[in-house]
Amino acid sequence: MRRYSIQNKIVLPFILLVTVVILIVPVITIGLFDRKYDEQISWETQKWLETIVDTGYIRHPEKVKEAYGAEVTIVSSDNTVNYTTLPGDWASFAEDMKLHEGRKRIKESNRDFVSQNVMVNGRHYKVIYYLQAYDRLYCLMRPREEIAAAKQWVTLLMLGIAAAVIPLVGLISHLIGRNLTDPIKDLVQFTRKVAGGDLNEQGEAKTHDEIGDLTRAFNQMTRDLRNSRNELIGAERLATAGKMAASFAHEIRNPLSSMRMLAQMVMRKANLSESRRKQSMQYILEEIERIDVIVKGFMDFARPASLRLAPHDLNQVLQEVLDLMEANLNHHRITLIKKFAPDHPPISLDRDKLKQAFMNIVLNAMDAMPGGGTLEILTVRQIASRDSDKVRIDIVDTGIGIPPEDLNRLFEPFFTTKSQGTGLGLANAKRVLEQHGGDIQSKSVVGQGTTVSLWLPLPSNSSPSDSKKIGE
Ligand SMILES: Nc1ncnc2c1ncn2[C@@H]1O[C@H](COP(=O)(O)OP(=O)(O)OP(=O)(O)O)[C@@H](O)[C@H]1O
Ligand SMILES: [Mg+2]
Repeated sequence: MRRYSIQNKIVLPFILLVTVVILIVPVITIGLFDRKYDEQISWETQKWLETIVDTGYIRHPEKVKEAYGAEVTIVSSDNTVNYTTLPGDWASFAEDMKLHEGRKRIKESNRDFVSQNVMVNGRHYKVIYYLQAYDRLYCLMRPREEIAAAKQWVTLLMLGIAAAVIPLVGLISHLIGRNLTDPIKDLVQFTRKVAGGDLNEQGEAKTHDEIGDLTRAFNQMTRDLRNSRNELIGAERLATAGKMAASFAHEIRNPLSSMRMLAQMVMRKANLSESRRKQSMQYILEEIERIDVIVKGFMDFARPASLRLAPHDLNQVLQEVLDLMEANLNHHRITLIKKFAPDHPPISLDRDKLKQAFMNIVLNAMDAMPGGGTLEILTVRQIASRDSDKVRIDIVDTGIGIPPEDLNRLFEPFFTTKSQGTGLGLANAKRVLEQHGGDIQSKSVVGQGTTVSLWLPLPSNSSPSDSKKIGE
């Protein structure tokens, strides 16, 4: 459906109304005026005729013409012209004068005269037919030119007024419309920004009318929304901090209690052999090491350092991870399949952080295939639109799989099913991917295996043809 702006909805009716008023009103006025004038002129001409008959002027047509400015024509019973004051050609006089019709009307009206409008030799007349002896017709013809000229004049005047007034009305209504719609446009722009999540924006209430009130109400609403969002974020942060602190405490409690037990044992047993003492100290050191790993992972997650971005070849980065893992994979009898798409342009990324994330995912896959299996790594270029091309990296294993109830907890910090795991590997990987503007997801079937998919945005306007070709 065609969409009309408020501006047009204001301007168009104005112009339509004025056009109608300027064009229709004169037509009606002229029509009414014409009728009134015709009645008046008929009445007057009758009066003239009566005077002409009474004064005997009827026998002197030239004098009538001189006194009244009217023409006189006298026709005989067979409608041939006996006399006329009219100059020019009389050839079609009987028809032009509508003599038959005149006679008929006189007969029907039972009067001596009737009036009629005729056009003779290109001129308009009001004619009064007066029936005389021997069926002769005396025609008193009064020119009606002025009325036609007046009509033409009024029409031209009206067209002139229309030509001047319609653009003026258009301009005035346009200004009125703009005055009304400009604040609405500002308000719409402001609400769009707010809808886009920018709650710091405030609309400028320029007018002291309903639109100004609406802007002020919107401002208030945005402020309230911002406050409640901040409160919500604060509450959420507190809840997350609480959850993380609890998980962290839980994680380090086990190594701490074993350290306490070992230390107490070493202190209490004075006769402990040197080798047992050393072994206990070694256990304590290992537990300290474990706490250190947990603390480091936690620090990475809680306070992620900013990215050190540089353009890198993604396939190359993946290859470096696999080179490091190769021996380990062979040892676990895991077959590696690589399917790298050859057409990625260099991507701006933090190489070390992404390598760490890939490594965590490959290590998870390895842990999931204790009896060996297949690890497939593929990169796929996804062309969503010109501005949002992405590359997807799938890491597919044929391991034990993940039960559905665990699937949506994988990326929670400290979620682990491993006795020695921190549960921070995937949480950190997700954080790193999100820092790059990417994403990570996983799907799995218990007993069949798991696919972890990672997405990274490609630089905009990069087409496969201008990218560097990278083979396996
Ligand atoms: N490929 C996989 N197959 C099966 N389970 C997986 C896989 N990847 C992750 N998981 C499950 O997700 C949990 C969380 O993984 P995450 O990497 O975050 O921690 P983790 O591996 O347990 O500990 P860490 O990474 O510190 O060694 C794992 O404990 C495991 O249960
Ligand atoms: Mg892990």
